[in-house]
Amino acid sequence: MSKKVVVITGGAGGIGSVCAYALKEYKLVITDYAKDALDVTLQQMQTAGLDAVGFECDITDIKSVEALRTFTRQQGSFKGLIHTAGVSGTVKDAHRVFSIDLVATDILVNTFYEIAEEKSVIVLFASMMGHVVPPNEGYDKALRQPQDDDAWETISPFIQDNSDTMYNFAKRGVILLAKDNAMRFGQKGARIVSVSPGVIMTPMAEKALAEHPDIMAQTLSMTPVNRYGQPEDIAQVVRFLISDEAAFITGTDLIVDGGVLTQMLK
Ligand SMILES: NC(=O)c1ccc[n+]([C@@H]2O[C@H](COP(=O)([O-])OP(=O)(O)OC[C@H]3O[C@@H](n4cnc5c(N)ncnc54)[C@H](O)[C@@H]3O)[C@@H](O)[C@H]2O)c1
Repeated sequence: MSKKVVVITGGAGGIGSVCAYALKEYKLVITDYAKDALDVTLQQMQTAGLDAVGFECDITDIKSVEALRTFTRQQGSFKGLIHTAGVSGTVKDAHRVFSIDLVATDILVNTFYEIAEEKSVIVLFASMMGHVVPPNEGYDKALRQPQDDDAWETISPFIQDNSDTMYNFAKRGVILLAKDNAMRFGQKGARIVSVSPGVIMTPMAEKALAEHPDIMAQTLSMTPVNRYGQPEDIAQVVRFLISDEAAFITGTDLIVDGGVLTQMLK
């Protein structure tokens, strides 16, 4: 029987690339908008024996995402989308964070819904920081429907042009998207979940460490397992979530943070 196909967005990134090695039994579509990094990462994966093909895609561009879906379908039967592509607040552009981390996630969910089939799984990437944003009628509808014309105008007064705050809001939105889409994916026999990592040592976290060393040190001191996470900590969870062993898990968020939120949200 031919291998089922798993797509990894942000496949050249710290978490996405390591997820690929945990998903060796699938045919992998590794996608990213950073072409040079994608080429290097793909070469390493192929050398290591992974059955992986590359596809350059900017997830904020609907046409590019539709082309990714067409390419995926050509590779075989769809098993899963592991959507790790994203940016942190370090980009210092709140609208860019909104577009990449939230609007593009909604675009991907809707586009891949069309090819979702029995036992396929969408894994979205939220963050522990999505859990620090409280529910609020003022912005939750816009976070749930980020492609609406007035979504950005609704959210911006709450985030005051702060890209780190926008990141937290976007990740709350991702958690809500996984919940809101569970029923329609369920009607196809498919699942959708989100994962909320804590601090995972990747280029994204290294940038945050350089920018906010005090906050990062404080976060570590509040982490019950007493270490930062590694991409492998997340990859093993993703492997479980797309497997049939997780067949009764959908529409929920799984926090993988070494326990730090238990201390932050006391
Ligand atoms: N590393 C952490 O500590 C941490 C913590 C919580 C949540 N997360 C989340 O986990 C996910 C993966 O994080 P990471 O640490 O691997 O980040 P990373 O920066 O190492 O990788 C992200 C990848 O996404 C790609 N990307 C960014 N914008 C894109 C776009 N518009 N189109 C296509 N590709 C794009 C980048 O080129 C990069 O390869 C992100 O969603 C992040 O918010 C990470």
